[in-house]
Amino acid sequence: MRGEALGVAGEGEMLLGVQHLSVGIKRRGTYYAAVDDISFKINPGEIVGIVGESGCGKSLTALSMLGLLPEGVQVRGGTILFDGAELRGMSPQELCRIRGNEISMVFQEPMTSLNPLIKIGRQIAEPLELHGWKNKQRIYDAVRAIMGKVGLPEPEALMAAYPHQLSGGMRQRVMIALAVVCKPKLLIADEPTTALDVTIQAQILHLMKWINQDLGTSILFISHDLAVISRLCDRVLVMYAGKLVEEGTVQAVFQHPLHEYTKGLIGSIPNKGQKGTPLVNIPGKVPSIQEKSSGCPFAPRCFRAEPRCFAAFPAPRSCNDHWVCCALADHPVRLHCKES
Ligand SMILES: Nc1ncnc2c1ncn2[C@@H]1O[C@H](COP(=O)(O)OP(=O)(O)OP(=O)(O)O)[C@@H](O)[C@H]1O
Ligand SMILES: [Mg+2]
Repeated sequence: MRGEALGVAGEGEMLLGVQHLSVGIKRRGTYYAAVDDISFKINPGEIVGIVGESGCGKSLTALSMLGLLPEGVQVRGGTILFDGAELRGMSPQELCRIRGNEISMVFQEPMTSLNPLIKIGRQIAEPLELHGWKNKQRIYDAVRAIMGKVGLPEPEALMAAYPHQLSGGMRQRVMIALAVVCKPKLLIADEPTTALDVTIQAQILHLMKWINQDLGTSILFISHDLAVISRLCDRVLVMYAGKLVEEGTVQAVFQHPLHEYTKGLIGSIPNKGQKGTPLVNIPGKVPSIQEKSSGCPFAPRCFRAEPRCFAAFPAPRSCNDHWVCCALADHPVRLHCKES
C-alpha cells in the first residue's frame, strides 16, 4: 500500500500525514478525481516541495488541507492527520482555529488575497486578533517585528499604506508576514514566487528558508519549477495528473530521477549550455480529469510505454524514502540499497 511505502502509518514524529487522499470535481452529477489516492507526510522542520505541470492537482491538494476547496470540489476519500488530529470532518469553527494559527497559506497573487480597502498594518494584525490577542501594544509590537523580519522597510510608515501603494514583491512580503505572524507549525506556499521577477524570487526563497529555520515552521512549497524546488526543499513530491508518481530527497530525485516524467521535468530546466532550446521537452499535455484511464496517466506521453502501462497504475517501489510508481523504472533498490 502507498501509505506503508511512504512510512506514513504510525510515525510519532510526523507533523502532517496525508493518506490515500482523493479530491473529486463534480461535472454533470459525476465526481471525477482531480487528486487520486495520494499519500505523503511532512515531518517537523521539513521543507517539502510538490512539483508538476499546470492542472495536475497541486493547488487542490493544498486547499484540501485547510478545508478551502471551491464549490463543486470535494475530498472524496482518505485522511489528513495534522499534529495528531484528523482535519477531515472537523467543523468550520475547529478548522478556523487551525487556519492562520497552526497552518497558514500564501498564494501566487497577493492582490487577490489582500483586502484593497484595509491598511497593511490592520491586515497583518487580523490573524492575531482572530486567534485571541487583545493587548493593542503587544499586537502592534508583533506586527512591527514580523514586518521587519520579512524585510518590509520602515514598518511604521508601511502599516498605514494600502496594498495598491506597494510593489508586487512587497505585497508578497506582506502576505508572508500575515501568514507567519502567528508562528504556524505549517506554511503552505502555493507558487508564491511565480508572478515575481527573478531577483525578488530569490529574496522570497531566502525568506522561506528563514521562516523554516528561525520560526521552526515546516513548509509545503508548491511550484511547477523544479529548479526552485531544488534550491529550497529537503524532499520533493512529483505529481502528474492527480497522482504522485515519484518522491524522494531532492538529492536522490535530482541525481537519479526514476520516472520518465521526472526525467522530462529535470531535462526541461534551463541551463547555460542549452541556450535556445525549448524549455519543456515532454511532448503532449496533461490529460483532463475526464480523459483519465485506469493505467498510468503518463503512458500516452511516455516514449517507453508498453501495453501493461495502459492497463494498470503500477504499485510503488521504494528504497530509503525514494519511491516511484512506474512499471519500467529502474528499481530504487539498485541505486540506494544493497540487493540481497
Ligand atoms: N474550482 C474548480 N472547478 C472545477 N475544476 C477545477 C477547479 N479548480 C481546479 N479544477 C481542475 O482540477 C484540476 C487540478 O487543478 P489544480 O488547480 O489543483 O492544478 P495545479 O496543479 O495547481 O495547476 P497550476 O500549476 O496551474 O496552478 C485541473 O484539471 C483543474 O482544471
Ligand atoms: Mg495551482
